[in-house]
Amino acid sequence: MNNYYDYYKSEIESIKSKNLYRTLRNISSVGNAEIIFNKKKYLNLSSNDYLGIADNTELLNEFYLEINDESKSNDFRLGSGSSRLLSGNYNLYEKLETELAKAYESESALVFNSGYHANIGILPALTGKGDLIISDKLNHASIIDGIRLSNADYLRYKHLDYKHLEKLLAAKRNNYNKVIIISESIFSMDGDVVDLQKLVDIKNKYNTMLYIDEAHAFATRGKSGLGIAEEQNLISKIDFIVGTFGKAFASQGAFVVCKSVIREFLINKMRSLIFTTSLPPVVVNWNLFLLKKIKSFSVERKKLNLISDILIEEFQKNGLSITSSSNIVPVILGKNSVAEEVATEMQKHLYYIFAVRPPTVPEGTARLRISLTANIPENKVLEIARVITKLITKHAI
Ligand SMILES: Cc1ncc(COP(=O)(O)O)c(C=O)c1O
Repeated sequence: MNNYYDYYKSEIESIKSKNLYRTLRNISSVGNAEIIFNKKKYLNLSSNDYLGIADNTELLNEFYLEINDESKSNDFRLGSGSSRLLSGNYNLYEKLETELAKAYESESALVFNSGYHANIGILPALTGKGDLIISDKLNHASIIDGIRLSNADYLRYKHLDYKHLEKLLAAKRNNYNKVIIISESIFSMDGDVVDLQKLVDIKNKYNTMLYIDEAHAFATRGKSGLGIAEEQNLISKIDFIVGTFGKAFASQGAFVVCKSVIREFLINKMRSLIFTTSLPPVVVNWNLFLLKKIKSFSVERKKLNLISDILIEEFQKNGLSITSSSNIVPVILGKNSVAEEVATEMQKHLYYIFAVRPPTVPEGTARLRISLTANIPENKVLEIARVITKLITKHAI
């Protein structure tokens, strides 16, 4: 190759020609469901701060009350200085893990730097040659990357199609040693919800383990905020419950709730836990602070679920086919170019929303992904439904 840079330039042109070009946008201010971009104020429909915690000054002030307490100075450090296996394992970590295990009434929990670190690390640590990972076809990229890093074989079952999952297991289970079924609980790009009872029944019938990624359900669903596993009353039947602090906790980090032997094993084998600097203590402290209050966010949870139901109902009244049953409400538009056009028009109406295109979603299913947060007013939700329906009619989709 003569010129490496020409190669990358031409690849970028090819990405642009397919309407798949991505850019980073400079955000100047975020707050109360609003965002300032290019000096204009938008309603933010692209945030994962589902409970509006990032803007909750009362909570922030309470958290920072102790910042000047010298005996707590380590708890507010901005960097841990090391991996957890060396000198980065501040005692806050174990406090957070004990609190998580207590909340889930589980033997143990282990905290990681992000949901991405969790998903790319747990699967390759727990599985190897002779094992099988069987994954919902629409699982998140971090799960796909975890599967790629594992030496196990893998199969994908059709999205939420448990008959297909069973068919695959009936045909293949006996060829493998360990088998892990993996699914998101609320699907990140579709907003639809797993049927855990079906997965637990299949897990028991075929002697597999069950791994559930609750990234979008942790803190937003379940009476105490413990996700779909709590809502469907099946916490104790799931081998690995993964949650992230990066979404509804408006923070950073993630965790798995699991048996103690799994925690011990992961500490010894999980590369994305071992070979990275641990989270800054202040972040772990904030996660612990919020976790102690997770039950009390029921007001925000109720509001979030109420406006989500209103939006879905409104779309359905307007004749749109919506499969979501959560605060993630995608409107599937098909072609990348159409999704781009509709998103651009939404931005002209001062909604901060973008087209989600392949490879994030399957080819031909480009969409607007509306991500509702608890601080969006009810009347705005009705307005969103009206504007989107109008644009869809205009584009004759
Ligand atoms: C289902 C799912 N799992 C994991 C992640 C990654 O979590 P984090 O943002 O904490 O890395 C995401 C993020 O988009 C997700 O949607």
